[in-house]
Amino acid sequence: MKILIVGGGGREHTLVWKVAQNKKVTKIYCAPGNAGISEIAECVDIAATDINALVEFAKEKKIDLTIIGPDDPLVIGIVDAFEAENLRVFGPRKNAAIIEGSKTFSKDLMKKYNIPTASYKSFTDAEEAKKYLESSDFPIVLKADGLALGKGVLICKDLAEACEGVNSIMINKNFGSAGNILVIEEFMTGREVSVLAFCDGENILPMTSAQDHKRAKDGDQGLNTGGMGTFSPSPYYTDEMAAECMETIYKPTMQAMKAEGRPFVGILFVGLMMTPKGIKVLEYNARFGDPETQVVLPRMKSDLIDVIDACLEQRLDKFNLEFDDNAAVCVVLASNGYPEHYEKGFAIEGLENFNQKEGYYVFHAGTKSTENGIVTNGGRVLGVSALGENLTQAKKNAYHAVNWIEFENKYYRSDIGKN
Ligand code: AMP
Ligand code: GLY
Repeated sequence: MKILIVGGGGREHTLVWKVAQNKKVTKIYCAPGNAGISEIAECVDIAATDINALVEFAKEKKIDLTIIGPDDPLVIGIVDAFEAENLRVFGPRKNAAIIEGSKTFSKDLMKKYNIPTASYKSFTDAEEAKKYLESSDFPIVLKADGLALGKGVLICKDLAEACEGVNSIMINKNFGSAGNILVIEEFMTGREVSVLAFCDGENILPMTSAQDHKRAKDGDQGLNTGGMGTFSPSPYYTDEMAAECMETIYKPTMQAMKAEGRPFVGILFVGLMMTPKGIKVLEYNARFGDPETQVVLPRMKSDLIDVIDACLEQRLDKFNLEFDDNAAVCVVLASNGYPEHYEKGFAIEGLENFNQKEGYYVFHAGTKSTENGIVTNGGRVLGVSALGENLTQAKKNAYHAVNWIEFENKYYRSDIGKN
């Protein structure tokens, strides 16, 4: 069986690593991949959004299954393009990926189907948005409607800051066309948890929970990033809460998408907040999370290809998805300066320390192979994941392994797993 994985970050390295454990898999390609991925898969120099080239590649190599990692190819319709050529592909079609691609769509969907979320209003006119803000309570949340690399959310403490936010999103277009529509949302308080779920269009099968740390600095200070680390499971997300979310959020979301003629097949990533008034949806993503995947898949006992087959054949209701009882922590090693300016091209030492060590993993994100070995090539460079019998032990193990790696300008948070 030949597999193609689309993407080239830590999430995709984890997917490649997990897929490689299936004995029927004879060959894995990854487009574009990275230095770590190239040790287990053949990397192909095609961008994740170059849909035509990816379809041609899959046809030429007779790929049996393609798995899409990132959001942007999904939102522009990569799954539809593969299906049009009768290629097997795992991910939502364009008309379902919009659940991540447009916040207005997802908020309207939740409202229509009574799925608990923060109250909101959408605007296409900056002056109207500002007028609405004049009679709002603060803090308040502004969100660019479209994809904005996880950065299109502003939490504003007063009217002045909110008006500046409206200017930045709608007038200055700091997030490009993602800011053509603005969603203004009620500010919620509580603990956050992320739940990734397999979906087959009809049924939804949630994985174990995870929590990420989005801010750059310890104590959840500093700028928002793509994610500086994760842990799984969340000790606060109890079985009772999971059962409640199944009835109030997961199943209703699947049914809503089906009722709208947009059946969702793929991974639905539900960002939740446990507010004093119950669990509410913060956001939906239409894909695996990064770096949530780096803690969830090492704990998954079930085979990834088997569960994807069950999704594509709409028999998830009969699938027994299993996770280990242990915990996992992933610490992201970044280039100092990320998410703003940072340098690249520094040699990475110590990767071999992870070889054959059970329960310790190094997943590459921004890395590149050169004549002089593997060098840093991005803001988030590596994710160091470790298992442990509980969260405290997993955290200890992950931070122990962080010391095995050295590169110039290495930066990481020292409080991942503290919740
Ligand atoms: P999102 O991309 O929608 O998940 O937003 C990014 C982060 O902003 C979330 O993980 C929350 O920490 C925060 N956030 C988003 N929406 C709200 C809200 N309505 N109230 C409070 N915090 C929020
Ligand atoms: N870690 C958050 C995301 O993947 O969107």
